[in-house]
Amino acid sequence: MNRKDFFSRVGFGAAAALLPACIAGLASGCSSDNSSSPIITQAPTGVDFLLDVSTGSLAANGGYLVSQGIVVARTNSGTFIAVSASCTHEGTNVNYVASTNDFLCPNHGAQFSSTGVVTRGPANTNLKQYNTSLTGNSLRVYS
Ligand code: FES
Repeated sequence: MNRKDFFSRVGFGAAAALLPACIAGLASGCSSDNSSSPIITQAPTGVDFLLDVSTGSLAANGGYLVSQGIVVARTNSGTFIAVSASCTHEGTNVNYVASTNDFLCPNHGAQFSSTGVVTRGPANTNLKQYNTSLTGNSLRVYS
């Protein structure tokens, strides 16, 4: 048996041995990239809650927090914005980026505008935007 014959037979044997495992999804080397199949996460509904903006992350421009599944941010211009926190790709919480006034998912890099519109994939569904209303130091976040 020459080298070509040997590798030909071993290669065929390995492929034959792995085929059933690939079909069963057991061999990690056979897994496909499922990033093109987005998981649509559920944005909170029936939202209506208050936040004290006199202390904590929302006390200063550029700060943000996640409450009840919603990212609430205070922009560099001092306005408040709120969108669903869970990335529409695979559910990782997005972060607010004050310097660009948008939201970035740390998992695969999806980016959303300040109103939750997808500006970069792999996500292809927008975040849900919520209303905000400030009375004194009390910020109302609602659907
Ligand atoms: S979870 Fe994949 S981009 Fe957000």
